[in-house]
Amino acid sequence: MIHHPLARLLAVLSLSAPLHASERGEISLREAFAAHFSIGFGTGQTNDARSALLRHHATSLTCENVLKPRPLRPSPEPGVFAWERADAWLAWVESLGLKPVGHTLVWSYQMPEWLLERARSGALTRDEALAWQDAHIRAVLARYGDRIRTWDVVNEALSDASSPDTYLRDDPWLNLVGEDGLVAAFRSARAAAPHAKLLYNDYNLEQRAKRARALRLLRRLEAEGLRPDAVGIQGHCTLSAPPAADFEAAILELHAAGYPVHITELDVSVYDWAPGADIGAMMKRRYDPATDLGYDTLPPELHERLAARYRELFAVFLRHADKLERVAFWNVDDGHTWLRNWPLPGRPNHPLLFDAQQQPKPAFHAVLGLLRPNASPAPSP
Ligand code: GLA
Repeated sequence: MIHHPLARLLAVLSLSAPLHASERGEISLREAFAAHFSIGFGTGQTNDARSALLRHHATSLTCENVLKPRPLRPSPEPGVFAWERADAWLAWVESLGLKPVGHTLVWSYQMPEWLLERARSGALTRDEALAWQDAHIRAVLARYGDRIRTWDVVNEALSDASSPDTYLRDDPWLNLVGEDGLVAAFRSARAAAPHAKLLYNDYNLEQRAKRARALRLLRRLEAEGLRPDAVGIQGHCTLSAPPAADFEAAILELHAAGYPVHITELDVSVYDWAPGADIGAMMKRRYDPATDLGYDTLPPELHERLAARYRELFAVFLRHADKLERVAFWNVDDGHTWLRNWPLPGRPNHPLLFDAQQQPKPAFHAVLGLLRPNASPAPSP
Protein backbone atom coordinates (compact mmCIF):
# COMPACT_ATOMS: atom_id res chain seq x y z
CA MET A 1 0.00 0.00 0.00
CA ILE A 2 1.34 3.48 -0.85
CA HIS A 3 0.21 5.92 1.83
CA HIS A 4 1.95 9.21 1.14
CA PRO A 5 -0.17 11.24 -1.36
CA LEU A 6 2.87 12.39 -3.33
CA ALA A 7 4.22 8.85 -3.59
CA ARG A 8 0.78 7.69 -4.68
CA LEU A 9 0.63 10.38 -7.36
CA LEU A 10 4.09 9.42 -8.63
CA ALA A 11 3.10 5.78 -8.77
CA VAL A 12 -0.03 6.58 -10.79
CA LEU A 13 1.94 8.81 -13.15
CA SER A 14 4.59 6.19 -13.75
CA LEU A 15 1.91 3.65 -14.58
CA SER A 16 0.01 5.83 -17.01
CA ALA A 17 2.83 7.75 -18.72
CA PRO A 18 4.09 5.99 -21.87
CA LEU A 19 7.47 4.45 -21.15
CA HIS A 20 10.35 5.26 -23.41
CA ALA A 21 12.03 2.49 -25.31
CA SER A 22 15.29 2.47 -23.41
CA GLU A 23 13.48 2.57 -20.07
CA ARG A 24 11.33 -0.46 -20.74
CA GLY A 25 14.12 -2.56 -22.17
CA GLU A 26 12.48 -3.13 -25.55
CA ILE A 27 14.73 -4.90 -28.05
CA SER A 28 16.50 -2.31 -30.16
CA LEU A 29 15.81 -2.57 -33.91
CA ARG A 30 19.25 -1.13 -34.61
CA GLU A 31 20.95 -3.79 -32.51
CA ALA A 32 18.70 -6.63 -33.63
CA PHE A 33 19.36 -5.96 -37.33
CA ALA A 34 22.95 -4.77 -36.95
CA ALA A 35 24.38 -7.85 -38.65
CA HIS A 36 22.03 -7.38 -41.63
CA PHE A 37 21.42 -3.70 -42.45
CA SER A 38 21.12 -0.38 -40.69
CA ILE A 39 17.77 0.96 -39.48
CA GLY A 40 16.64 4.46 -40.35
CA PHE A 41 13.63 6.71 -39.91
CA GLY A 42 12.53 9.89 -41.65
CA THR A 43 11.37 13.02 -39.90
CA GLY A 44 12.15 16.70 -40.19
CA GLN A 45 10.59 17.48 -36.85
CA THR A 46 12.88 18.10 -33.92
CA ASN A 47 10.55 16.54 -31.42
CA ASP A 48 12.07 15.61 -28.09
CA ALA A 49 9.18 13.27 -27.37
CA ARG A 50 10.65 11.01 -30.06
CA SER A 51 14.26 11.26 -28.88
CA ALA A 52 14.27 8.19 -26.66
CA LEU A 53 12.68 5.98 -29.30
CA LEU A 54 15.10 7.14 -31.98
CA ARG A 55 18.16 6.83 -29.76
CA HIS A 56 17.13 3.30 -28.93
CA HIS A 57 16.10 2.03 -32.37
CA ALA A 58 17.75 4.11 -35.11
CA THR A 59 21.09 4.27 -36.86
CA SER A 60 20.15 7.11 -39.19
CA LEU A 61 17.57 9.82 -39.66
CA THR A 62 16.46 11.31 -42.98
CA CYS A 63 15.27 14.94 -43.00
CA GLU A 64 11.73 14.60 -44.23
CA ASN A 65 11.27 17.99 -45.90
CA VAL A 66 13.69 20.55 -44.49
CA LEU A 67 16.49 20.03 -47.03
CA LYS A 68 14.32 19.92 -50.14
CA PRO A 69 14.97 22.71 -52.65
CA ARG A 70 11.55 24.33 -52.14
CA PRO A 71 11.75 25.01 -48.40
CA LEU A 72 15.47 25.86 -48.63
CA ARG A 73 15.00 28.39 -51.43
CA PRO A 74 11.88 30.45 -50.75
CA SER A 75 13.22 33.53 -52.51
CA PRO A 76 14.33 34.19 -56.11
CA GLU A 77 17.13 36.42 -54.78
CA PRO A 78 20.39 34.74 -55.79
CA GLY A 79 22.20 33.07 -52.91
CA VAL A 80 19.33 33.41 -50.42
CA PHE A 81 18.80 30.22 -48.41
CA ALA A 82 16.47 29.50 -45.48
CA TRP A 83 18.89 27.38 -43.47
CA GLU A 84 17.33 27.72 -40.00
CA ARG A 85 15.15 24.62 -39.94
CA ALA A 86 17.78 22.44 -41.58
CA ASP A 87 20.44 23.70 -39.15
CA ALA A 88 18.20 22.96 -36.17
CA TRP A 89 17.30 19.51 -37.51
CA LEU A 90 20.93 18.57 -38.09
CA ALA A 91 22.00 19.76 -34.64
CA TRP A 92 19.19 17.67 -33.14
CA VAL A 93 20.15 14.54 -35.09
CA GLU A 94 23.76 14.94 -34.01
CA SER A 95 22.71 15.43 -30.40
CA LEU A 96 20.97 12.04 -30.62
CA GLY A 97 24.14 10.44 -31.96
CA LEU A 98 22.42 9.43 -35.22
CA LYS A 99 23.69 9.60 -38.79
CA PRO A 100 21.84 12.24 -40.83
CA VAL A 101 20.72 11.41 -44.37
CA GLY A 102 20.32 14.31 -46.82
CA HIS A 103 17.12 14.34 -48.84
CA THR A 104 17.17 15.68 -51.52
CA LEU A 105 19.37 17.90 -53.70
CA VAL A 106 17.18 17.77 -56.81
CA TRP A 107 13.51 16.90 -57.04
CA SER A 108 11.72 18.33 -60.06
CA TYR A 109 8.35 18.26 -58.27
CA GLN A 110 9.58 20.26 -55.27
CA MET A 111 11.92 22.75 -56.85
CA PRO A 112 10.99 26.25 -55.61
CA GLU A 113 7.61 27.27 -56.97
CA TRP A 114 8.99 30.58 -58.30
CA LEU A 115 11.62 28.64 -60.25
CA LEU A 116 9.08 26.20 -61.68
CA GLU A 117 6.90 29.14 -62.68
CA ARG A 118 9.82 30.58 -64.66
CA ALA A 119 10.39 27.17 -66.26
CA ARG A 120 6.69 26.89 -67.15
CA SER A 121 6.49 30.35 -68.67
CA GLY A 122 9.64 29.92 -70.74
CA ALA A 123 11.43 32.69 -68.80
CA LEU A 124 14.16 30.29 -67.63
CA THR A 125 16.65 29.00 -70.16
CA ARG A 126 18.16 25.54 -69.91
CA ASP A 127 21.59 27.02 -69.17
CA GLU A 128 20.15 29.18 -66.40
CA ALA A 129 18.37 26.18 -64.91
CA LEU A 130 21.57 24.12 -64.93
CA ALA A 131 23.59 26.97 -63.43
CA TRP A 132 20.99 27.41 -60.67
CA GLN A 133 21.05 23.68 -59.94
CA ASP A 134 24.84 23.56 -59.81
CA ALA A 135 25.06 26.56 -57.47
CA HIS A 136 22.31 25.10 -55.28
CA ILE A 137 23.99 21.72 -54.90
CA ARG A 138 27.39 23.24 -54.21
CA ALA A 139 26.00 25.62 -51.59
CA VAL A 140 24.10 22.88 -49.75
CA LEU A 141 27.08 20.54 -49.79
CA ALA A 142 29.50 23.30 -48.78
CA ARG A 143 27.38 23.87 -45.70
CA TYR A 144 26.51 20.28 -44.78
CA GLY A 145 28.72 17.95 -46.83
CA ASP A 146 31.13 17.28 -43.95
CA ARG A 147 28.35 16.43 -41.52
CA ILE A 148 25.88 14.62 -43.81
CA ARG A 149 27.62 11.78 -45.62
CA THR A 150 24.68 10.13 -47.41
CA TRP A 151 22.61 12.06 -49.96
CA ASP A 152 19.67 11.41 -52.22
CA VAL A 153 21.06 13.45 -55.10
CA VAL A 154 18.04 13.09 -57.36
CA ASN A 155 14.56 12.07 -56.25
CA GLU A 156 11.74 10.76 -58.45
CA ALA A 157 12.87 11.67 -61.97
CA LEU A 158 11.46 8.64 -63.78
CA SER A 159 8.12 8.31 -65.51
CA ASP A 160 5.37 6.01 -64.27
CA ALA A 161 3.74 5.82 -67.68
CA SER A 162 2.97 2.38 -69.03
CA SER A 163 4.33 3.11 -72.48
CA PRO A 164 7.82 1.65 -72.84
CA ASP A 165 8.98 4.70 -74.84
CA THR A 166 8.66 7.13 -71.94
CA TYR A 167 11.67 7.78 -69.76
CA LEU A 168 11.63 10.84 -67.53
CA ARG A 169 8.61 12.42 -65.85
CA ASP A 170 6.73 14.93 -67.91
CA ASP A 171 7.11 18.11 -65.82
CA PRO A 172 8.39 21.66 -66.33
CA TRP A 173 11.81 21.10 -64.74
CA LEU A 174 12.64 17.80 -66.40
CA ASN A 175 11.26 18.94 -69.75
CA LEU A 176 13.76 21.79 -69.55
CA VAL A 177 16.92 20.06 -68.27
CA GLY A 178 16.34 16.46 -69.41
CA GLU A 179 18.63 13.55 -68.64
CA ASP A 180 21.66 15.83 -68.98
CA GLY A 181 20.34 17.79 -66.00
CA LEU A 182 20.33 14.65 -63.87
CA VAL A 183 23.86 13.80 -64.96
CA ALA A 184 24.88 17.37 -64.12
CA ALA A 185 23.36 17.01 -60.64
CA PHE A 186 25.52 13.96 -59.92
CA ARG A 187 28.55 15.76 -61.36
CA SER A 188 28.02 18.76 -59.08
CA ALA A 189 27.39 16.56 -56.03
CA ARG A 190 30.41 14.36 -56.65
CA ALA A 191 32.67 17.40 -57.10
CA ALA A 192 31.35 19.11 -53.96
CA ALA A 193 31.26 16.02 -51.72
CA PRO A 194 33.79 13.54 -53.11
CA HIS A 195 33.54 11.16 -50.16
CA ALA A 196 29.78 11.19 -49.67
CA LYS A 197 27.53 8.23 -50.47
CA LEU A 198 25.38 9.43 -53.38
CA LEU A 199 22.03 7.82 -54.22
CA TYR A 200 19.40 7.90 -56.91
CA ASN A 201 16.04 7.56 -55.08
CA ASP A 202 12.59 6.72 -56.49
CA TYR A 203 9.32 4.88 -55.85
CA ASN A 204 7.87 1.99 -57.85
CA LEU A 205 11.33 0.67 -58.72
CA GLU A 206 9.85 -2.69 -57.78
CA GLN A 207 7.89 -2.36 -61.06
CA ARG A 208 9.83 -3.79 -63.96
CA ALA A 209 9.06 -1.01 -66.47
CA LYS A 210 10.14 1.75 -64.11
CA ARG A 211 13.21 -0.19 -63.04
CA ALA A 212 14.25 -0.43 -66.69
CA ARG A 213 14.19 3.39 -66.78
CA ALA A 214 16.32 3.50 -63.63
CA LEU A 215 18.83 1.14 -65.18
CA ARG A 216 18.95 3.34 -68.28
CA LEU A 217 19.77 6.37 -66.12
CA LEU A 218 22.34 4.41 -64.12
CA ARG A 219 24.07 3.27 -67.32
CA ARG A 220 24.26 6.85 -68.55
CA LEU A 221 25.75 7.95 -65.21
CA GLU A 222 28.25 5.10 -65.36
CA ALA A 223 29.26 6.12 -68.90
CA GLU A 224 29.95 9.62 -67.54
CA GLY A 225 32.09 8.25 -64.71
CA LEU A 226 29.39 9.23 -62.19
CA ARG A 227 28.13 5.87 -60.92
CA PRO A 228 25.93 6.42 -57.83
CA ASP A 229 27.02 4.56 -54.70
CA ALA A 230 23.59 3.01 -54.15
CA VAL A 231 19.99 3.09 -55.30
CA GLY A 232 17.11 4.02 -53.00
CA ILE A 233 13.81 2.19 -53.36
CA GLN A 234 11.30 4.25 -51.40
CA GLY A 235 8.98 1.43 -50.36
CA HIS A 236 5.64 3.18 -49.79
CA CYS A 237 3.31 0.18 -49.57
CA THR A 238 -0.26 -0.73 -48.77
CA LEU A 239 -1.45 -3.87 -47.03
CA SER A 240 -1.53 -5.75 -50.31
CA ALA A 241 0.62 -3.89 -52.84
CA PRO A 242 3.19 -4.16 -54.19
CA PRO A 243 3.86 -7.89 -53.76
CA ALA A 244 6.90 -8.64 -51.61
CA ALA A 245 8.22 -10.72 -54.51
CA ASP A 246 8.46 -7.53 -56.60
CA PHE A 247 10.81 -6.02 -54.00
CA GLU A 248 12.84 -9.18 -54.21
CA ALA A 249 13.09 -8.91 -58.01
CA ALA A 250 14.11 -5.24 -57.72
CA ILE A 251 16.80 -5.89 -55.12
CA LEU A 252 18.19 -8.77 -57.19
CA GLU A 253 18.27 -6.86 -60.44
CA LEU A 254 19.80 -3.69 -59.00
CA HIS A 255 22.36 -5.74 -57.14
CA ALA A 256 23.20 -7.66 -60.31
CA ALA A 257 23.76 -4.29 -61.99
CA GLY A 258 26.31 -3.52 -59.26
CA TYR A 259 24.23 -1.41 -56.87
CA PRO A 260 23.68 -1.82 -53.15
CA VAL A 261 20.04 -1.03 -52.33
CA HIS A 262 18.63 1.20 -49.61
CA ILE A 263 14.95 0.94 -48.69
CA THR A 264 14.53 4.63 -47.99
CA GLU A 265 10.88 5.40 -47.16
CA LEU A 266 9.15 2.27 -45.94
CA ASP A 267 5.60 2.46 -44.67
CA VAL A 268 2.40 0.44 -45.08
CA SER A 269 -0.86 2.32 -45.50
CA VAL A 270 -3.74 0.42 -43.91
CA TYR A 271 -5.99 1.37 -46.84
CA ASP A 272 -5.77 -0.46 -50.13
CA TRP A 273 -6.46 1.40 -53.31
CA ALA A 274 -9.93 0.84 -54.66
CA PRO A 275 -9.47 -0.35 -58.26
CA GLY A 276 -9.43 2.75 -60.47
CA ALA A 277 -9.27 5.11 -57.46
CA ASP A 278 -8.87 8.72 -58.57
CA ILE A 279 -5.92 9.88 -56.47
CA GLY A 280 -6.01 13.40 -57.93
CA ALA A 281 -9.63 13.83 -56.85
CA MET A 282 -8.89 12.42 -53.37
CA MET A 283 -6.07 14.92 -52.91
CA LYS A 284 -8.43 17.81 -53.60
CA ARG A 285 -10.98 17.07 -50.88
CA ARG A 286 -10.84 16.18 -47.19
CA TYR A 287 -11.54 12.94 -45.40
CA ASP A 288 -15.19 12.72 -44.42
CA PRO A 289 -15.73 10.21 -41.61
CA ALA A 290 -19.41 9.97 -42.55
CA THR A 291 -18.72 8.56 -46.00
CA ASP A 292 -15.05 7.52 -46.16
CA LEU A 293 -13.59 4.41 -44.62
CA GLY A 294 -11.20 5.46 -41.85
CA TYR A 295 -9.90 3.96 -38.62
CA ASP A 296 -9.37 6.22 -35.63
CA THR A 297 -7.92 3.21 -33.90
CA LEU A 298 -6.75 0.17 -35.78
CA PRO A 299 -9.02 -2.90 -35.36
CA PRO A 300 -7.24 -6.08 -34.19
CA GLU A 301 -7.64 -7.84 -37.54
CA LEU A 302 -5.87 -4.95 -39.29
CA HIS A 303 -3.10 -5.02 -36.69
CA GLU A 304 -2.67 -8.64 -37.69
CA ARG A 305 -2.67 -7.90 -41.42
CA LEU A 306 -0.17 -5.08 -40.90
CA ALA A 307 2.05 -7.41 -38.88
CA ALA A 308 1.85 -10.10 -41.58
CA ARG A 309 2.66 -7.57 -44.27
CA TYR A 310 5.71 -6.22 -42.43
CA ARG A 311 6.78 -9.79 -41.75
CA GLU A 312 6.72 -10.74 -45.45
CA LEU A 313 8.59 -7.56 -46.44
CA PHE A 314 11.27 -8.02 -43.81
CA ALA A 315 11.59 -11.69 -44.74
CA VAL A 316 12.63 -10.50 -48.21
CA PHE A 317 14.96 -7.86 -46.77
CA LEU A 318 16.62 -10.41 -44.50
CA ARG A 319 16.96 -12.94 -47.32
CA HIS A 320 18.84 -10.29 -49.32
CA ALA A 321 20.57 -8.51 -46.48
CA ASP A 322 23.89 -8.92 -48.31
CA LYS A 323 22.50 -6.60 -51.02
CA LEU A 324 20.85 -4.08 -48.70
CA GLU A 325 22.60 -1.40 -46.70
CA ARG A 326 19.72 0.38 -44.97
CA VAL A 327 16.04 -0.07 -44.28
CA ALA A 328 14.46 3.24 -43.30
CA PHE A 329 10.88 3.90 -42.26
CA TRP A 330 9.17 7.01 -43.53
CA ASN A 331 8.36 8.74 -40.26
CA VAL A 332 8.78 7.37 -36.78
CA ASP A 333 5.41 6.59 -35.23
CA ASP A 334 1.74 6.85 -36.23
CA GLY A 335 1.46 10.21 -34.46
CA HIS A 336 3.15 11.89 -37.43
CA THR A 337 2.84 10.29 -40.84
CA TRP A 338 2.54 11.91 -44.26
CA LEU A 339 -0.21 9.35 -44.97
CA ARG A 340 -2.56 11.39 -42.78
CA ASN A 341 -2.40 13.99 -45.53
CA TRP A 342 -2.09 11.85 -48.60
CA PRO A 343 -3.98 10.97 -50.66
CA LEU A 344 -7.02 11.90 -48.53
CA PRO A 345 -6.17 14.85 -46.27
CA GLY A 346 -7.31 14.28 -42.69
CA ARG A 347 -7.75 10.50 -42.90
CA PRO A 348 -6.18 8.68 -39.94
CA ASN A 349 -3.55 6.11 -40.85
CA HIS A 350 -1.42 3.67 -38.89
CA PRO A 351 1.44 2.71 -41.22
CA LEU A 352 4.40 2.29 -38.86
CA LEU A 353 5.76 -0.11 -36.25
CA PHE A 354 4.98 2.25 -33.36
CA ASP A 355 1.58 3.73 -32.52
CA ALA A 356 0.91 7.40 -31.83
CA GLN A 357 1.97 6.91 -28.19
CA GLN A 358 5.21 5.40 -29.52
CA GLN A 359 4.32 1.99 -28.20
CA PRO A 360 5.40 -0.99 -30.34
CA LYS A 361 2.59 -2.57 -32.34
CA PRO A 362 2.21 -6.26 -33.24
CA ALA A 363 4.01 -5.36 -36.49
CA PHE A 364 7.12 -4.47 -34.44
CA HIS A 365 7.08 -7.87 -32.74
CA ALA A 366 6.42 -9.60 -36.06
CA VAL A 367 9.51 -8.06 -37.61
CA LEU A 368 11.69 -8.98 -34.64
CA GLY A 369 10.16 -12.44 -34.57
CA LEU A 370 11.85 -13.17 -37.90
CA LEU A 371 15.18 -13.04 -36.08
CA ARG A 372 13.97 -15.35 -33.33
CA PRO A 373 12.00 -18.05 -35.14
CA ASN A 374 11.17 -19.83 -31.89
CA ALA A 375 9.99 -16.71 -30.09
CA SER A 376 6.43 -16.61 -28.79
CA PRO A 377 3.89 -14.95 -31.09
CA ALA A 378 3.42 -11.18 -31.00
CA PRO A 379 1.08 -10.03 -28.22
CA SER A 380 -2.34 -8.98 -29.47
CA PRO A 381 -3.06 -5.26 -29.57
C1 GLA B 1 8.13 11.07 -51.49
C2 GLA B 1 9.36 11.91 -51.23
C3 GLA B 1 9.47 12.28 -49.81
C4 GLA B 1 8.17 12.72 -49.21
C5 GLA B 1 7.16 11.67 -49.42
C6 GLA B 1 5.91 12.08 -48.72
O1 GLA B 1 8.30 9.76 -51.18
O2 GLA B 1 10.55 11.30 -51.61
O3 GLA B 1 10.36 13.35 -49.69
O4 GLA B 1 7.73 13.92 -49.80
O5 GLA B 1 6.99 11.51 -50.80
O6 GLA B 1 6.20 12.48 -47.39
